[in-house]
Amino acid sequence: MSEWIDVAAADDLPPGSRKVVSTEAGDIAVFNLDGELYAIEDVCTHDGGELASGELDGDQIICPRHGARFCVRNGKCLTPPAYEDIEAFPVRIENGIVQIDIDD
Ligand code: FES
Repeated sequence: MSEWIDVAAADDLPPGSRKVVSTEAGDIAVFNLDGELYAIEDVCTHDGGELASGELDGDQIICPRHGARFCVRNGKCLTPPAYEDIEAFPVRIENGIVQIDIDD
């Protein structure tokens, strides 16, 4: 069953911005990439570091600790030293509020 939770007003998450929310499912990073919204687990599978403060390269987030890359769109692990994917969550805008579904 879906469990949509509020992240932010859509106006507060403009293209190029990101936000981390703490949820029952752990910290989740929400990105606005050129108007498209994506949400991924904010935990690197290499050594548990947070990802959201990392540099973005297109649709890839680069772990600030040791440089592993993950696809922001789907959580796929793309480069070592991480080898496991992270979870990606559905995102929607409902009545001007960005929401994520943490019960995917
Ligand atoms: S904790 Fe992310 S690459 Fe090491």
